[in-house]
Parts: sequence; C-alpha cells; structure tokens
Amino acid sequence: MITYRTATSGDLPGVRALLDAAHLPVVGLEVHIQNFMLALDGEKVVGCAGLEVHQDRGLLRSVAVEQGYRNHGIGLRLTEGVIELAQNKNLTSLSLLTETAPDYFPRFGFVQVQRSELPAALNDSDEFKGACPDTATAMTLKL
Ligand SMILES: CC(C)(COP(=O)(O)OP(=O)(O)OC[C@H]1O[C@@H](n2cnc3c(N)ncnc32)[C@H](O)[C@@H]1OP(=O)(O)O)[C@@H](O)C(=O)NCCC(=O)NCCS
Repeated sequence: MITYRTATSGDLPGVRALLDAAHLPVVGLEVHIQNFMLALDGEKVVGCAGLEVHQDRGLLRSVAVEQGYRNHGIGLRLTEGVIELAQNKNLTSLSLLTETAPDYFPRFGFVQVQRSELPAALNDSDEFKGACPDTATAMTLKL
C-alpha cells in the first residue's frame, strides 16, 4: 500500500537517492525539503514532488517515481498534492522546467511558455541558475 505525506529533513537521503536514480537535480533540496510531497511503500520513498516558493511564485520540481512503481497514478497524486500546496500558500502561479516529461504536465493544466516568459521571481531558484539545462521545456500553470 502506498501512503503519502509531506517530507522532513530526515527524508533527505531517500529523496536524494530517488532523484539520483531518475537523473534529476538535487541542488537546493535541503532548503525546500519541507515543501516536498512523498509517496512511501512502507518506510521506503518511492515517489516525490517538490515545491520551491519564490515570493508569490512557485516552482514545481523533482517529480519522480521509482521505476517499478510507475504508471499507477503516483506521479499524478504527488503533482496534484504540490498544486494544492501552492494554492494553500496563495501563490499566483506554478512553473516548471523539464527535459524528460513535457508531455506529462499538460494534463494538470500546465502550458508551454518561453523560458523568458517565466516569472522573474524564479530566477532565484538553483534549477534556473544552471542545474536545469537551457534546452529544458518551460511550462506554467496559473493558480
Ligand atoms: C514522469 C513520472 C514522474 C510519472 O510518474 P507516474 O507515477 O509513472 O505517472 P502516473 O501514473 O501519474 O501517470 C501515468 C501516465 O503518464 C504518462 N507518462 C509517464 N511518464 C511520462 C513522460 N516522461 N512523458 C509523458 N508522459 C508520461 C504515462 O504514459 C501514463 O499515461 P496514461 O495516463 O495516458 O496511461 C515518472 O515517469 C518519472 O519518475 N519519470 C522520470 C523522472 C522525470 O522525468 N520527471 C519529470 C521531470 S521533473
């Protein structure tokens, strides 16, 4: 049975391992870990999705599900959890950069935009400062 909860700093090793396996950036993880949603199988972290807050804007990052657990709606539930978290924090938009899954996020209402159209507040994010390559697709969702 899969359970869901928000992360604490004690979850850092499990989340880092999951992101490493999915070849996603871990930079800034420790700063934002408390705004990460987790999926667990017992004690094991098998999915995560994170929110970075920059002023009144949000960045959805680190959406990953362990290989053997994919296609069971875990990514869906985690992404919806982060969207809800961003709404509860009264953020005005949620954006993301992705190299690997631009076709996954439209189902949540994200639309593709030019990277230059993303909110300037997100320039503070480490993902924007180089962890995510220039070739990544930029997407945004108005909240
Ligand atoms: C993308 C990812 C998080 C999806 O998690 P998941 O739990 O398998 O997804 P769900 O079960 O919620 O959704 C499954 C659906 O998404 C689709 N999907 C899965 N990965 C996809 C991708 N990379 N691109 C487009 N669609 C994708 C599946 O084909 C399936 O489609 P269907 O509903 O039409 O059958 C997971 O595949 C993953 O960890 N990928 C590697 C890391 C990554 O690319 N993260 C996103 C960038 S931040």
